[in-house]
Amino acid sequence: MHSYQYKILVVGDLGTGKTSVLQRFVYNTFSTHYKSTIGVDFALKVVQQDSDVVVHLQLWDIAGQERFGSMTRVYYKDAIGAFLVYDVTRPKTLDHVVKWKQDLDAKVQVPGGYGDIPAILLANKIDQQANPKSKQEMTEFCVDNGFIQWFEVSAKENIGVSEAGKYLIDAILQLESTIERKNEYDDGDSAITLHEPIKLNKSNPKCCS
Ligand code: GTP
Ligand code: MG
Repeated sequence: MHSYQYKILVVGDLGTGKTSVLQRFVYNTFSTHYKSTIGVDFALKVVQQDSDVVVHLQLWDIAGQERFGSMTRVYYKDAIGAFLVYDVTRPKTLDHVVKWKQDLDAKVQVPGGYGDIPAILLANKIDQQANPKSKQEMTEFCVDNGFIQWFEVSAKENIGVSEAGKYLIDAILQLESTIERKNEYDDGDSAITLHEPIKLNKSNPKCCS
């Protein structure tokens, strides 16, 4: 049995549904009540990815109002995967994804020169209206901005969320095995590990990164 622990970020504009997507993913619940996240929130989820792989996810729900601010560097530290969320009913939130992604890539990278952390674009609230972008436009957007994949999701109607989660975990595990092979080849001289996320201090989670 292999067990891994990863820190995953959820970022994007105010009110795009980051907290809702996370709550759907972790607790399988949804609320229409909007309570804007302040700073950052956390959730943990254990995923049995296949018969002999268990993944412990530490999910960091970053407030939209952080908007590429100075605190994001602290929040992004040691993350190894990310969801970037936009709201299909507000096309501007997709424009802003470009900035969120640039900010992310500037502030966190896979250790050992393996480049940007795997990031997935989520087009949320598709229960409300169709995605204004065509499939081809979405694919081009992903190539241009370095996303490994995109999904149409609805936190409300439970569409696409678990698929997106599985896809991200698979991508991280692939990266993990690439790095493990490289470490073996290097005979342990300069072993790289995908950071274990920092321990959370429940009483003041923001203090101890
Ligand atoms: P901040 O924390 O302020 O950055 O916002 P957020 O991105 O965490 O958004 P949140 O999850 O709080 O959702 C904002 C509003 O959108 C809430 O009223 C949610 O109920 C609603 N919402 C979220 N996801 C969906 C969805 O898939 N469909 C619909 N119809 N509403 C959604
Ligand atoms: Mg929130």
